[in-house]
Amino acid sequence: MSTFSRDLIGRSGYANEGFADHYDGARPSPPAVALDVLTRCAGGRPQLVVDLGSGTGLSSRAWAARAERVVGVEANPAMLARARATTAEANVTFVEAYADATGLEAGSADIVTCAQSFHWMDPAAVLPEVARVLRPGGVFGAYDYDVVPVIEPQVDAAFAAVIDVRWAARERLGIHAGASQWPKREHVARLRESGLFALAREVHCHAETTADAEAVTDLAHSLGGPTAIFEGRAPELEETMDALTRIARERLPEPRPMLIGYTIRLGITPS
Ligand SMILES: C[S@@+](CC[C@H](N)C(=O)[O-])C[C@H]1O[C@@H](n2cnc3c(N)ncnc32)[C@H](O)[C@@H]1O
Repeated sequence: MSTFSRDLIGRSGYANEGFADHYDGARPSPPAVALDVLTRCAGGRPQLVVDLGSGTGLSSRAWAARAERVVGVEANPAMLARARATTAEANVTFVEAYADATGLEAGSADIVTCAQSFHWMDPAAVLPEVARVLRPGGVFGAYDYDVVPVIEPQVDAAFAAVIDVRWAARERLGIHAGASQWPKREHVARLRESGLFALAREVHCHAETTADAEAVTDLAHSLGGPTAIFEGRAPELEETMDALTRIARERLPEPRPMLIGYTIRLGITPS
């Protein structure tokens, strides 16, 4: 088991009381267009989708009507418990495991996904397991939303400030996120370096949704885990979040259309 992910999960705050519930309500579900891209690359409706780092199950449930069977793999028991409690679809199940040792049958999956989760994982440990579980010509898709969403210029700027200040506080206090070690922009290079995929590429798409002030601030607050991980040592983050809340309430008196960009990093195993 990769100690990198274990240590990261340990300091993420994702196991804190109530965080999984907040996460599940605040984060967007994967957009249909991202699932369309992966389905098309796999050559049609998948028999089995394996979702690594499935969290509260948002990214697993999204496949329920699009695949025969979906298995979410999650190492944090608090996130897993929320996934099991929330998921009613009989063809979606979860296992508690690390992504580099899933225990799933070799060659069984048409699609393996990492939704907002590949940067939490050591690619050298996880990619061989991905390639083992995929059938020949199977598709690995690591996809992430590109924060900041697009909703209203002043709100977008205040949202961007929260992301920047949070990142700077992490660096200053040495609370490193997975993405400091495995930046998302390097995912495709890592897929290529692994030699496990016949094709590795990036695809960009976007989702259209609607959000109000509360949804926007909830999303910003859920990104990067609870502020409790800073133990009161980042007051500038609280101030920036308060500013976002105030500006969002001023600028979004009614729900508005919101666009969220996505980047999909794809690897297709040899046929
Ligand atoms: C940001 S959440 C994404 C959850 C979900 N996929 C979604 O789209 O909302 C990342 C999840 O990956 C899990 N995770 C991180 N590293 C993992 C690993 N090596 N094996 C299994 N789960 C892992 C974390 O515990 C966390 O729940």
